[in-house]
Amino acid sequence: MQIRAIINQKGGVGKTTTSVNLGAALAAQGQRVLVVDLDPQGNLSTHVGLNIHELERTMYDVLTQGTPMRDVIQETGVKGLFCLPSNIDLSGAEVEIVAAVGRETLLKEALEDLNSAADRPFDHVVIDCPPSLGLLCINALAAAQEVLVPMQTEFFALQGMGKLMEVIQIVKRRINPVLKLGGIIACRVDPRTRLSFEVLEDIQTHFPNELFKTQIRQNIKLAEAPSFGQTIMEYAPESNGAEDYRSLAQEFLSKIAEPCTSTSETPQEKNDEPTSPTQSADGLAS
Ligand SMILES: Nc1ncnc2c1ncn2[C@@H]1O[C@H](COP(=O)(O)OP(=O)(O)OP(=O)(O)O)[C@@H](O)[C@H]1O
Ligand SMILES: [Mg+2]
Repeated sequence: MQIRAIINQKGGVGKTTTSVNLGAALAAQGQRVLVVDLDPQGNLSTHVGLNIHELERTMYDVLTQGTPMRDVIQETGVKGLFCLPSNIDLSGAEVEIVAAVGRETLLKEALEDLNSAADRPFDHVVIDCPPSLGLLCINALAAAQEVLVPMQTEFFALQGMGKLMEVIQIVKRRINPVLKLGGIIACRVDPRTRLSFEVLEDIQTHFPNELFKTQIRQNIKLAEAPSFGQTIMEYAPESNGAEDYRSLAQEFLSKIAEPCTSTSETPQEKNDEPTSPTQSADGLAS
Protein backbone atom coordinates (compact mmCIF):
# COMPACT_ATOMS: atom_id res chain seq x y z
CA MET A 1 0.00 0.00 0.00
CA GLN A 2 1.60 3.21 -1.21
CA ILE A 3 0.78 6.12 1.08
CA ARG A 4 1.27 9.73 0.00
CA ALA A 5 0.63 12.84 2.11
CA ILE A 6 -0.36 15.91 0.09
CA ILE A 7 0.97 18.79 2.15
CA ASN A 8 1.54 22.51 1.93
CA GLN A 9 0.74 24.69 4.89
CA LYS A 10 -0.19 27.46 2.47
CA GLY A 11 -3.90 27.63 1.75
CA GLY A 12 -5.54 27.33 -1.66
CA VAL A 13 -2.55 25.95 -3.56
CA GLY A 14 -4.32 22.87 -4.98
CA LYS A 15 -3.90 20.18 -2.30
CA THR A 16 -7.51 19.01 -2.38
CA THR A 17 -7.85 19.35 -6.16
CA THR A 18 -4.70 17.28 -6.57
CA SER A 19 -5.70 14.63 -4.01
CA VAL A 20 -9.10 14.07 -5.62
CA ASN A 21 -8.07 14.20 -9.25
CA LEU A 22 -4.77 12.37 -8.95
CA GLY A 23 -6.73 9.74 -7.01
CA ALA A 24 -9.39 9.58 -9.75
CA ALA A 25 -6.77 9.42 -12.50
CA LEU A 26 -4.99 6.56 -10.71
CA ALA A 27 -8.33 4.75 -10.29
CA ALA A 28 -8.97 5.20 -14.01
CA GLN A 29 -5.69 3.35 -14.59
CA GLY A 30 -7.09 0.35 -12.73
CA GLN A 31 -5.55 1.17 -9.36
CA ARG A 32 -7.53 0.77 -6.15
CA VAL A 33 -7.31 4.14 -4.44
CA LEU A 34 -8.33 5.55 -1.06
CA VAL A 35 -8.39 9.33 -0.64
CA VAL A 36 -8.31 10.42 2.99
CA ASP A 37 -9.82 13.74 3.96
CA LEU A 38 -7.67 14.97 6.85
CA ASP A 39 -9.00 18.52 6.70
CA PRO A 40 -11.89 19.64 8.94
CA GLN A 41 -13.05 21.85 6.04
CA GLY A 42 -14.21 18.58 4.43
CA ASN A 43 -13.49 19.91 0.93
CA LEU A 44 -12.26 16.58 -0.40
CA SER A 45 -15.37 14.79 0.88
CA THR A 46 -17.60 17.41 -0.78
CA HIS A 47 -15.56 17.19 -3.98
CA VAL A 48 -16.29 13.48 -4.34
CA GLY A 49 -20.01 14.07 -3.83
CA LEU A 50 -20.56 13.43 -0.13
CA ASN A 51 -22.80 15.60 2.02
CA ILE A 52 -20.47 16.45 4.90
CA HIS A 53 -23.39 17.46 7.15
CA GLU A 54 -24.94 14.02 6.96
CA LEU A 55 -21.96 11.77 7.56
CA GLU A 56 -22.60 9.12 10.20
CA ARG A 57 -18.96 8.38 10.83
CA THR A 58 -15.88 10.33 9.85
CA MET A 59 -12.14 10.54 10.31
CA TYR A 60 -12.92 12.05 13.72
CA ASP A 61 -14.28 8.66 14.89
CA VAL A 62 -11.21 6.86 13.55
CA LEU A 63 -8.80 9.12 15.43
CA THR A 64 -10.69 9.64 18.68
CA GLN A 65 -12.79 6.46 19.09
CA GLY A 66 -10.63 3.92 17.31
CA THR A 67 -13.46 3.20 14.84
CA PRO A 68 -12.07 0.90 12.12
CA MET A 69 -11.54 2.69 8.81
CA ARG A 70 -13.52 0.05 6.94
CA ASP A 71 -16.66 1.25 8.80
CA VAL A 72 -16.08 4.83 7.65
CA ILE A 73 -14.88 4.48 4.06
CA GLN A 74 -17.39 5.38 1.36
CA GLU A 75 -17.58 4.66 -2.35
CA THR A 76 -17.42 7.51 -4.86
CA GLY A 77 -18.78 7.93 -8.37
CA VAL A 78 -15.47 6.72 -9.79
CA LYS A 79 -14.85 2.98 -9.96
CA GLY A 80 -11.90 2.06 -7.77
CA LEU A 81 -11.90 5.39 -5.89
CA PHE A 82 -12.93 5.37 -2.23
CA CYS A 83 -13.08 8.19 0.32
CA LEU A 84 -12.49 8.37 4.03
CA PRO A 85 -14.48 11.52 4.79
CA SER A 86 -14.19 14.33 7.31
CA ASN A 87 -16.14 17.33 8.42
CA ILE A 88 -15.86 20.07 11.02
CA ASP A 89 -15.86 17.48 13.83
CA LEU A 90 -12.25 16.77 12.95
CA SER A 91 -11.20 20.17 14.28
CA GLY A 92 -12.02 18.82 17.76
CA ALA A 93 -9.89 15.73 17.24
CA GLU A 94 -6.64 17.66 17.24
CA VAL A 95 -7.42 18.89 20.76
CA GLU A 96 -8.83 15.58 21.99
CA ILE A 97 -5.89 13.43 20.92
CA VAL A 98 -3.22 15.80 22.17
CA ALA A 99 -2.85 13.85 25.42
CA ALA A 100 -3.22 10.40 23.83
CA VAL A 101 -0.30 8.00 23.98
CA GLY A 102 1.12 7.67 20.48
CA ARG A 103 -0.90 10.65 19.29
CA GLU A 104 1.33 11.11 16.22
CA THR A 105 0.81 7.58 14.92
CA LEU A 106 -2.96 7.12 15.27
CA LEU A 107 -3.52 7.44 11.52
CA LYS A 108 -0.60 5.16 10.70
CA GLU A 109 -1.95 2.44 12.98
CA ALA A 110 -5.47 2.75 11.60
CA LEU A 111 -4.13 2.40 8.05
CA GLU A 112 -2.04 -0.62 9.03
CA ASP A 113 -5.14 -2.26 10.55
CA LEU A 114 -7.09 -1.51 7.37
CA ASN A 115 -4.36 -2.96 5.21
CA SER A 116 -3.97 -6.17 7.19
CA ALA A 117 -7.72 -6.79 7.50
CA ALA A 118 -8.60 -6.10 3.87
CA ASP A 119 -9.33 -8.92 1.40
CA ARG A 120 -8.13 -6.62 -1.32
CA PRO A 121 -5.86 -3.88 0.03
CA PHE A 122 -5.67 -0.46 -1.55
CA ASP A 123 -2.85 0.14 -4.00
CA HIS A 124 -2.64 3.83 -3.12
CA VAL A 125 -3.68 6.01 -0.21
CA VAL A 126 -3.66 9.77 -0.82
CA ILE A 127 -4.00 11.94 2.29
CA ASP A 128 -5.31 15.48 1.78
CA CYS A 129 -3.90 17.63 4.60
CA PRO A 130 -5.21 20.87 6.06
CA PRO A 131 -3.29 24.13 5.47
CA SER A 132 -1.24 23.89 8.66
CA LEU A 133 1.59 21.87 10.14
CA GLY A 134 -0.32 20.72 13.22
CA LEU A 135 -0.92 17.32 14.75
CA LEU A 136 -3.14 16.15 11.90
CA CYS A 137 -0.36 16.81 9.40
CA ILE A 138 2.17 15.11 11.66
CA ASN A 139 -0.12 12.05 11.64
CA ALA A 140 -0.11 12.14 7.83
CA LEU A 141 3.70 12.44 7.75
CA ALA A 142 4.05 9.58 10.22
CA ALA A 143 1.84 7.35 8.06
CA ALA A 144 3.21 8.20 4.61
CA GLN A 145 6.16 6.91 2.64
CA GLU A 146 6.31 10.11 0.62
CA VAL A 147 5.21 13.71 0.72
CA LEU A 148 3.86 15.41 -2.39
CA VAL A 149 3.83 19.21 -2.25
CA PRO A 150 1.50 21.10 -4.58
CA MET A 151 2.70 24.65 -5.19
CA GLN A 152 0.80 27.45 -6.82
CA THR A 153 2.94 29.34 -9.30
CA GLU A 154 2.45 32.70 -7.71
CA PHE A 155 4.46 35.19 -5.71
CA PHE A 156 5.43 33.77 -2.26
CA ALA A 157 5.09 30.19 -3.59
CA LEU A 158 8.34 29.06 -1.96
CA GLN A 159 7.87 30.93 1.26
CA GLY A 160 7.42 28.47 4.11
CA MET A 161 9.08 25.60 2.25
CA GLY A 162 12.05 25.76 4.63
CA LYS A 163 9.72 25.15 7.56
CA LEU A 164 7.96 22.31 5.77
CA MET A 165 11.26 20.59 4.90
CA GLU A 166 12.37 20.96 8.52
CA VAL A 167 9.18 19.31 9.78
CA ILE A 168 9.60 16.45 7.27
CA GLN A 169 13.15 15.91 8.54
CA ILE A 170 12.09 15.90 12.17
CA VAL A 171 9.31 13.37 11.52
CA LYS A 172 11.73 11.23 9.49
CA ARG A 173 14.29 11.29 12.28
CA ARG A 174 11.94 10.65 15.19
CA ILE A 175 8.91 8.75 13.90
CA ASN A 176 9.06 7.59 10.29
CA PRO A 177 12.52 6.73 8.91
CA VAL A 178 11.25 5.85 5.44
CA LEU A 179 9.66 9.27 4.83
CA LYS A 180 10.92 11.25 1.86
CA LEU A 181 9.97 14.10 -0.40
CA GLY A 182 8.26 12.42 -3.33
CA GLY A 183 7.85 15.48 -5.47
CA ILE A 184 6.68 19.03 -6.01
CA ILE A 185 3.65 19.58 -8.24
CA ALA A 186 3.25 22.95 -9.94
CA CYS A 187 -0.46 23.75 -9.77
CA ARG A 188 -2.70 26.45 -11.20
CA VAL A 189 -0.04 27.32 -13.75
CA ASP A 190 -0.94 30.07 -16.19
CA PRO A 191 1.55 29.66 -19.04
CA ARG A 192 0.58 33.06 -20.45
CA THR A 193 1.96 35.01 -17.52
CA ARG A 194 5.56 35.91 -16.91
CA LEU A 195 5.07 35.50 -13.16
CA SER A 196 4.02 31.87 -13.54
CA PHE A 197 7.10 31.24 -15.67
CA GLU A 198 9.45 32.97 -13.20
CA VAL A 199 8.04 31.15 -10.20
CA LEU A 200 8.38 27.83 -12.05
CA GLU A 201 12.02 28.67 -12.68
CA ASP A 202 12.47 29.40 -8.97
CA ILE A 203 10.90 26.10 -7.98
CA GLN A 204 13.07 24.31 -10.56
CA THR A 205 16.17 25.98 -9.10
CA HIS A 206 15.38 24.92 -5.55
CA PHE A 207 13.99 21.48 -6.35
CA PRO A 208 15.63 20.46 -9.63
CA ASN A 209 15.06 16.75 -9.15
CA GLU A 210 11.79 16.82 -7.28
CA LEU A 211 9.62 18.95 -9.54
CA PHE A 212 7.19 16.81 -11.56
CA LYS A 213 7.47 17.45 -15.30
CA THR A 214 3.70 17.55 -15.53
CA GLN A 215 2.29 20.98 -14.77
CA ILE A 216 -1.32 21.42 -13.71
CA ARG A 217 -2.60 24.35 -15.73
CA GLN A 218 -5.17 26.83 -14.50
CA ASN A 219 -8.42 25.37 -15.76
CA ILE A 220 -11.93 26.57 -15.01
CA LYS A 221 -13.35 23.03 -15.17
CA LEU A 222 -11.14 22.06 -12.21
CA ALA A 223 -12.64 24.93 -10.23
CA GLU A 224 -16.21 24.04 -11.24
CA ALA A 225 -16.06 20.27 -10.62
CA PRO A 226 -16.24 20.42 -6.76
CA SER A 227 -19.57 22.24 -6.80
CA PHE A 228 -21.02 19.29 -8.74
CA GLY A 229 -19.51 16.79 -6.31
CA GLN A 230 -17.54 15.23 -9.15
CA THR A 231 -13.93 14.55 -9.94
CA ILE A 232 -12.60 16.11 -13.14
CA MET A 233 -12.71 12.67 -14.77
CA GLU A 234 -16.50 12.63 -14.36
CA TYR A 235 -17.22 16.33 -14.81
CA ALA A 236 -15.04 17.18 -17.81
CA PRO A 237 -12.96 14.22 -18.96
CA GLU A 238 -11.86 16.02 -22.11
CA SER A 239 -10.70 19.20 -20.35
CA ASN A 240 -7.11 20.35 -19.94
CA GLY A 241 -7.54 19.71 -16.22
CA ALA A 242 -8.40 16.05 -16.78
CA GLU A 243 -5.56 15.73 -19.28
CA ASP A 244 -3.07 17.22 -16.80
CA TYR A 245 -4.10 14.96 -13.94
CA ARG A 246 -4.01 11.89 -16.21
CA SER A 247 -0.50 12.84 -17.20
CA LEU A 248 0.46 13.43 -13.55
CA ALA A 249 -0.86 9.97 -12.64
CA GLN A 250 1.22 8.42 -15.41
CA GLU A 251 4.37 10.24 -14.30
CA PHE A 252 3.62 9.29 -10.68
CA LEU A 253 3.26 5.60 -11.57
CA SER A 254 6.40 5.58 -13.67
CA LYS A 255 8.34 7.15 -10.79
CA ILE A 256 7.16 4.33 -8.55
CA ALA A 257 8.08 1.73 -11.16
CA GLU A 258 11.60 3.12 -11.52
CA PRO A 259 12.48 4.69 -8.18
CA CYS A 260 14.42 7.78 -9.07
CA THR A 261 17.66 8.27 -7.17
CA SER A 262 17.11 11.99 -7.12
CA THR A 263 14.04 11.80 -4.85
CA SER A 264 15.40 9.14 -2.56
CA GLU A 265 17.26 11.59 -0.37
CA THR A 266 15.88 13.48 2.57
CA PRO A 267 15.51 17.12 1.70
CA GLN A 268 18.47 17.84 3.99
CA GLU A 269 19.86 20.63 1.90
CA LYS A 270 16.54 22.14 1.03
CA ASN A 271 15.61 23.85 4.24
CA ASP A 272 16.86 27.29 3.39
CA GLU A 273 14.39 29.85 2.14
CA PRO A 274 14.56 30.95 -1.50
CA THR A 275 16.94 33.66 -2.59
CA SER A 276 16.15 34.14 -6.27
CA PRO A 277 15.13 37.56 -7.62
CA THR A 278 11.43 36.71 -7.75
CA GLN A 279 11.35 35.43 -4.23
CA SER A 280 13.86 37.72 -2.60
CA ALA A 281 11.71 40.69 -3.55
CA ASP A 282 9.43 39.80 -0.66
CA GLY A 283 12.25 40.07 1.81
CA LEU A 284 12.77 36.35 2.10
CA ALA A 285 16.36 36.29 0.99
CA SER A 286 18.56 34.84 3.66
N1 LIG B 1 -5.59 24.05 -11.78
C1 LIG B 1 -6.62 24.78 -11.30
N2 LIG B 1 -7.32 25.60 -12.12
C2 LIG B 1 -8.35 26.34 -11.63
N3 LIG B 1 -8.76 26.33 -10.36
C3 LIG B 1 -8.11 25.54 -9.50
C4 LIG B 1 -7.01 24.72 -9.92
N4 LIG B 1 -6.55 24.03 -8.84
C5 LIG B 1 -7.33 24.41 -7.80
N5 LIG B 1 -8.26 25.30 -8.19
C6 LIG B 1 -9.25 25.98 -7.36
O1 LIG B 1 -8.53 26.78 -6.42
C7 LIG B 1 -9.15 26.71 -5.13
C8 LIG B 1 -8.14 26.14 -4.13
O2 LIG B 1 -7.82 24.80 -4.53
P1 LIG B 1 -7.77 23.63 -3.46
O3 LIG B 1 -9.01 23.62 -2.64
O4 LIG B 1 -7.43 22.39 -4.18
O5 LIG B 1 -6.55 24.13 -2.59
P2 LIG B 1 -6.10 23.61 -1.15
O6 LIG B 1 -4.62 23.75 -1.12
O7 LIG B 1 -6.67 22.28 -0.89
O8 LIG B 1 -6.80 24.67 -0.20
P3 LIG B 1 -6.86 24.60 1.41
O9 LIG B 1 -5.52 25.00 1.89
O10 LIG B 1 -7.94 25.58 1.78
O11 LIG B 1 -7.21 23.20 1.78
C9 LIG B 1 -10.38 25.86 -5.30
O12 LIG B 1 -11.49 26.71 -5.53
C10 LIG B 1 -10.10 25.02 -6.54
O13 LIG B 1 -11.27 24.64 -7.24
MG1 LIG C 1 -7.83 21.64 0.74
